[in-house]
Amino acid sequence: MTLRHFLRDDDLSPAEQLEILELADDFKNGRGSPSPLAGPKSVAVIFEKTSTRTRLSFETGIAQLGGHPVVVDARTMQLGREETIEDTARVLARYVDVVVWRTFAQARIDAMSSASDVPVVNALTNEFHPCQVLADLQTVRERHGPLPGLTLTYLGDGANNMAHSLLVGGATAGMNVRTAAPHGFAPEQWVLDAARKRAAETGGSVEVFDSPTEAVAGADVVATDSWTSMGQENDGKDRVSPFRPFQLNAELLAATGKEETSVLHCLPAHRGWEITDEVLDGPSSAVFDEAENRMHAQKALLTWLVQRR
Ligand code: CP
Ligand code: NVA
Repeated sequence: MTLRHFLRDDDLSPAEQLEILELADDFKNGRGSPSPLAGPKSVAVIFEKTSTRTRLSFETGIAQLGGHPVVVDARTMQLGREETIEDTARVLARYVDVVVWRTFAQARIDAMSSASDVPVVNALTNEFHPCQVLADLQTVRERHGPLPGLTLTYLGDGANNMAHSLLVGGATAGMNVRTAAPHGFAPEQWVLDAARKRAAETGGSVEVFDSPTEAVAGADVVATDSWTSMGQENDGKDRVSPFRPFQLNAELLAATGKEETSVLHCLPAHRGWEITDEVLDGPSSAVFDEAENRMHAQKALLTWLVQRR
């Protein structure tokens, strides 16, 4: 079997992504194998940025699979001093069966995977948040059925990890993915290229809009995220005024023209900024199911990865 990593959304083929989403449903419905990590297999879950959902969903999910989670704040590791990422990877693989890492630049997790003898999973980088998008896709499937042909619009910082992962992961699922972002915050061209490559294989599509109203028209799902991601607090950009027209509020939600639109937000939300209370707490909101599904989707992903070893 080949060693597989999950560093970005298109590390899974469309068929593999669907297989994992179906397994995630099995775990949620009590049909998943109870202890695929029995032994127990150990999973290192390492954080260079803060986390509530990712940390708790991995730690509890690994324990539920019969595995042993080793959750570490990277600031207490030698990684934060002079030890290289590659040497860290070589050592971790002597102890654990999977490495899950939340870090900054994607290049760092690429370096970890290049030297690792065990699967490496991206628990969020500046560029991608692929575990979140597996949970998002599971949530959309629960509410809307098969993903191919559904339209998902992302509003906000088009160049952040969530926008990028929804583009690439949504296109992998055969969805029509749209983004609407202020000037200067469009998705990276190389991400759009990767998403369009996938869309060409799956029948999905990728569209970039300037107007939030046009972008949401006809959308089945509307997603947003923080205007300021972790690590961007002092980047010198105005991350408020150009974003105000992109706030996900009742008026913009009504502009979908659909009765059954679902609202996604990976959380944490900045209520009153990128999303209003009315929408976050309203009948279209799927955000707490989305948060729960982190655990089911990650249990499916970990099971799938260790079964390939
Ligand atoms: N959505 C998400 O990744 O949340 P945390 O930052 O709390 O892990
Ligand atoms: N884009 C956000 C997601 C948080 C889960 C960030 O990177 O801070």
